[in-house]
Amino acid sequence: MAHVNVFDTTLRDGEQSAGVNLNRLEKIEIAKQLERLGVDIMEAGFPASSQEDFEAVKEIANTVRNCSVTALARTFKSDIDTAWEALKGGAEPRLHIFLATSPIHMTHKLKKTPDEVVTTAVEMVAYAKEKFPYVQWSAEDATRSDYDFLAHIIEKVIDAGADVINLPDTVGYATPEEYAELFKYVKQNVRNIDQVTLSAHCHDDLGMAVSNSLAAIEAGVGQIEGTINGIGERAGNASLEEIAVALEIRKDKYTYQTGMVLNEIKRTSDLVSKLTGMQVPGNKAVVGRNAFAHESGIHQDGVLKEATTYEIITPKMVGIDSNNLVLGKHSGRHAFMQKAESFGFQLSEAKLKEAFHTFKDLTGKKKEVTDADLFAILTDKQTEN
Ligand code: KIV
Ligand code: ZN
Repeated sequence: MAHVNVFDTTLRDGEQSAGVNLNRLEKIEIAKQLERLGVDIMEAGFPASSQEDFEAVKEIANTVRNCSVTALARTFKSDIDTAWEALKGGAEPRLHIFLATSPIHMTHKLKKTPDEVVTTAVEMVAYAKEKFPYVQWSAEDATRSDYDFLAHIIEKVIDAGADVINLPDTVGYATPEEYAELFKYVKQNVRNIDQVTLSAHCHDDLGMAVSNSLAAIEAGVGQIEGTINGIGERAGNASLEEIAVALEIRKDKYTYQTGMVLNEIKRTSDLVSKLTGMQVPGNKAVVGRNAFAHESGIHQDGVLKEATTYEIITPKMVGIDSNNLVLGKHSGRHAFMQKAESFGFQLSEAKLKEAFHTFKDLTGKKKEVTDADLFAILTDKQTEN
């Protein structure tokens, strides 16, 4: 199996989620957990954005030893110098510098001509390379850029010394087929493309960030970018845990794997959720509260006989102790009996039947029947004459 690098940007793009503000200590705690999770590169922040972010990036770079720490910079010498001061003590200092290449961004945001954009990108990548051993350049809004122009600027930026070329789907606009086509186009039309690693960075505005990332992997990128729990600007970034688990579960289809330690996923997800204050939706793939919960009688019966009937991922694989048979209005006798047994009740067949009916009545009155409710029902039956 070939390896695809994981570039985690939870602490930079993830922190750009509306309402999220991590302090230095929180960032360091997450960084240490990301190191345990086994990401290859972590983007620790944007040092020129504030003194606090500078300090956090510096401390992370000086602490983390098992992966490369990077940080974001605009195409300004002052941003690059500030990033160098923050990152120079790192195990493998790496700069992430970006400039937009789409007509919309160049005209309205940068107010620069395409030629000026090429000149700036080339000058700043060359300047960054005087200090940093590794430089990643991102063509912001790549998916809405003119492909010929993109090929031209990429060629120049590689000549200037870039090591990684990232083509972000900044506004989550691309479909999987289009995103794969973009990478194929660049591979075929950029003379010196073999000198660099290609990277995919997807946003989830149309709910396609993970699919787009997987399509990019199939198209041959060597690096994928994303965040834990998929947090990030607007609808968020590609969710790294979903990509890693999809590659593992569908290794019949994909020939790439990440180096992520899959059973650290749940712990990482919980920590990010706690410190960012962003709750993970219950039905979120891989880490949601319901991702391994079964409510209907048919499913519970199947899972009790053989888990793989309705579970393609084992909870343990991602660091969750066990699945969860939730007793609700669709649940059947089989799961109810199993729950009673797990609580240690040994009731006669007749009493269990009555208890089951009481439970079913309750599901018509309450949205969620808790373990405490079940315990009370079973205790009543046990003490009844
Ligand atoms: O989405 C994006 O384009 C970015 C860049 C800074 C890489 O986050
Ligand atoms: Zn982004």
